[in-house]
Amino acid sequence: MALQIQPFDGVIGAEVLGADLSQAFAEAEQQLLIDAWSKYSVLVFRDQMVTPEQFMRFSRYFGDLEIHVLEQYLHREHPEIFVVSNILEDGKNIGTPDAGRYWHTDLSYLAEPSRGSILYAIEIPEDDGKTLGNTLWASTAAAYEALPSATRDSIDTLKAEYSLGNRFNKLAEDDTQHIEMTDEQKAKTPSVIHPVVRTHPVTGRRGILVNEGHTTHIQGLPADESRALLEKLWAQCAKDEFTYRHEWQVGDVVMWDNTLTQHLAICDYALPQRRLLHRTTITGDRPH
Ligand code: SIN
Repeated sequence: MALQIQPFDGVIGAEVLGADLSQAFAEAEQQLLIDAWSKYSVLVFRDQMVTPEQFMRFSRYFGDLEIHVLEQYLHREHPEIFVVSNILEDGKNIGTPDAGRYWHTDLSYLAEPSRGSILYAIEIPEDDGKTLGNTLWASTAAAYEALPSATRDSIDTLKAEYSLGNRFNKLAEDDTQHIEMTDEQKAKTPSVIHPVVRTHPVTGRRGILVNEGHTTHIQGLPADESRALLEKLWAQCAKDEFTYRHEWQVGDVVMWDNTLTQHLAICDYALPQRRLLHRTTITGDRPH
């Protein structure tokens, strides 16, 4: 069956039908997916069964793969795979248990944040037939475009600070998790300055980059004004009309374009309910 892209109702996302990610894709199929990735921001593939090698081959159609700075959560044989999981082995997490607890854009704390990410669901928690640990994606472009033009004009030239430490500080404040980064990890992730609004490298669409997980403050504004504006922009992105909620099934692969999205993982499960996903992350450019 030829690949078919079936857009979701709403402003973000599409399901890809007729794809078997365990097989190599012809160049024309790769291009179809690359174009759909930029256009729909989130692509969902159901009923997949892939080895780590097949998952990485598929991921490389979209760019080079990053190796995450938190090396304690990397797949043992394939460091290009970042493990997202609440499972413990010998008392230690085999993956990051709550990568997505706050709305965020992956790796927006790096000078060159990742262009996209791909998750493969291996174990998904449920309770009485109800799927837990859903993930939501927001179209930051639709959220931005819906702002009054005066607000868009006022934020278009602003810049903000982004930091990985911000997320860990928030987790500690919320008494959720205490992760101590090593000195080497801290040295690899100094805070960076990026625009508040960024432009998609292919479509030219613009969207809100500031996100709850990684943004500390907007440059040049008094602390209270910066906080108020950030909270307003975060609330705008999180509105139902700009989001897609994914109810995971084992075998799902979801890929997204980080440029114009933020995502949030719902932490509504706990061991013995197990959640295990593999993630690859595709390198990107400096936001502009
Ligand atoms: C992530 O933020 O990449 C993980 C999202 C999830 O756990 O669903």
